[in-house]
Amino acid sequence: MAADERDAKDRQLDGDRVDSDRPLTTDTGVKVGDTDNSLRAGARGPTLLEDFHAREKITHFDHERIPERVVHARGAGAYGHFRPYEGLSDVTAAHFLSGPDVVTPVFVRFSTVAGSRGSADTVRDVRGFATKFYTEEGNYDLVGNNIPVFFIQDGVKFPDFVHSVKPEPHNEIPQAQSAHDTLWDFVGLQPETMHMMMWLMSDRAIPRSYRMMQGFGVHTFRFVNAEGRGTFVKFHWKPMLGTHSLVWDEAQRIQGNDPDYNRRDLWDSIERGQFPEWELGVQLVAEEDEHKFDFDLLDATKIIPEEEVPVRPIGKLTLNRNPDNFFAETEQVAFHTANVVPGIDFTNDPLLQARNFSYLDTQLLRLGGSNFQQIPVNRPVAPVSNNQRDGFAQHRVHRGRTSYFGNSLGGGCPALGGGSGVYHHYTEKVEGDKVRVRSESFADHYSQATLFYNSLADWEREHLVEAFRFELGHCEELEVRQRVVANLNHVDHGLSVRVAEGIGVEPPEEEAGPNHGRSSPAVSQLSTTFG
Ligand code: HEM
Repeated sequence: MAADERDAKDRQLDGDRVDSDRPLTTDTGVKVGDTDNSLRAGARGPTLLEDFHAREKITHFDHERIPERVVHARGAGAYGHFRPYEGLSDVTAAHFLSGPDVVTPVFVRFSTVAGSRGSADTVRDVRGFATKFYTEEGNYDLVGNNIPVFFIQDGVKFPDFVHSVKPEPHNEIPQAQSAHDTLWDFVGLQPETMHMMMWLMSDRAIPRSYRMMQGFGVHTFRFVNAEGRGTFVKFHWKPMLGTHSLVWDEAQRIQGNDPDYNRRDLWDSIERGQFPEWELGVQLVAEEDEHKFDFDLLDATKIIPEEEVPVRPIGKLTLNRNPDNFFAETEQVAFHTANVVPGIDFTNDPLLQARNFSYLDTQLLRLGGSNFQQIPVNRPVAPVSNNQRDGFAQHRVHRGRTSYFGNSLGGGCPALGGGSGVYHHYTEKVEGDKVRVRSESFADHYSQATLFYNSLADWEREHLVEAFRFELGHCEELEVRQRVVANLNHVDHGLSVRVAEGIGVEPPEEEAGPNHGRSSPAVSQLSTTFG
């Protein structure tokens, strides 16, 4: 497909696009002749209630705001397409991965996590990298980040984690994510955060451009082929421009000079015709190899080192069209990890399981009820027909007499789908006692943090130490600083001493870590550019 060719999603949106070059009307289509003067009793008299235009105009304005996302509130998005390099039917039945002839329209939204909708782009934070594939078999959402691991292992801790990262509840200070007591308090008490904190204190957390950022699905997901055979899969997005970061001083200056820096860069590059591209790669693990690693595949605080399972490039994403309207599209887009298509399934990763509940739940509130999939940016290009009815802002006019499955009267009730394209949940044997415990296989919180540290170049380590000193150094509670330094000692003694020395904390005694000396090519590809 040529870059300028219109895809199915673009054509679908034609019906929703509104040009503003028509005469001014009310919402009911009545032409308006004066929108500067309200109707009043006498030139200096009170405004009349019967001025339906003034009332409508002000009322609509009063209702313009919707809740911002509880996390990832600030973002920027664009449309584009995804084309596989080759067919993957040996491992997945997903039609959009069946071969280079299938080009799938996408919408991608990049975001920061902690800041509010109006916050600056170049803060130290994780970046969201969420992709909606409008496939012929329904929407598939790959809702990832630019860091391949996560802070916590179980989604039930997500509200606690996010509360620790957000400004403190009594005075809404500080806005900066990493430089405050509550985050470091959480981190010190929850050693499972350590691997992710190493990434967060690295230059990965200040990407130069969304176009120069990796993306990761983070969890282990499952591919399922037409025969029902499952294969574990981790997803990787690799930017064709390479992975580049800002340096800290530069990032801070840009925050002041141009808070829209990353958003503007994405917009301008697409307007210039320099379309950002990423390669999608997968790490595949056969089911029988599930337990062959020294970590648990279901633990989202772990990567699969690329020296153990190489990344196989499977296709290319190109972003080539800016949205027409930020609110309608970028703000109202609703990604959800549970939006899957045949051939892609979940695993029992407890973080993923919680996400599969959380996104729909929050969107029911954020987007005003149960019909948000009808919003243009969310609407699948695949046909939708079911017995879901009514609700606020129902846009469909369902025809027919019935709206229940299993009827002999005919009408609105669709038949069950059959044959290919039907979603079948993977047949997985599950048994166990109902318990509130975490598997022992999730217990090692330090080895991969060490692995990450060992993989950094000297100057990357330098930046990381400076970041720990700056961010942890802003924490006022000495005991909290001390606890984090003690945890860092399990990652690397030298690192903990250097951080301690920079923030007035007693350096800890040396202890042997399990992984000193190992490094992983998976995490050593970062380069930082200046200017
Ligand atoms: C939003 C990624 C963990 C709840 C987002 C977004 C991304 C993302 C990219 C922004 C989507 C957009 O651009 O609209 C991730 C990743 C996670 C993770 C990669 C871990 C691997 C969690 C967990 C929960 C959660 C554990 C809850 C239990 C939410 C919520 C939103 C959100 C509520 C806002 C969604 C909306 O309002 O539309 N997440 N997240 N996330 N995430 Fe996560």
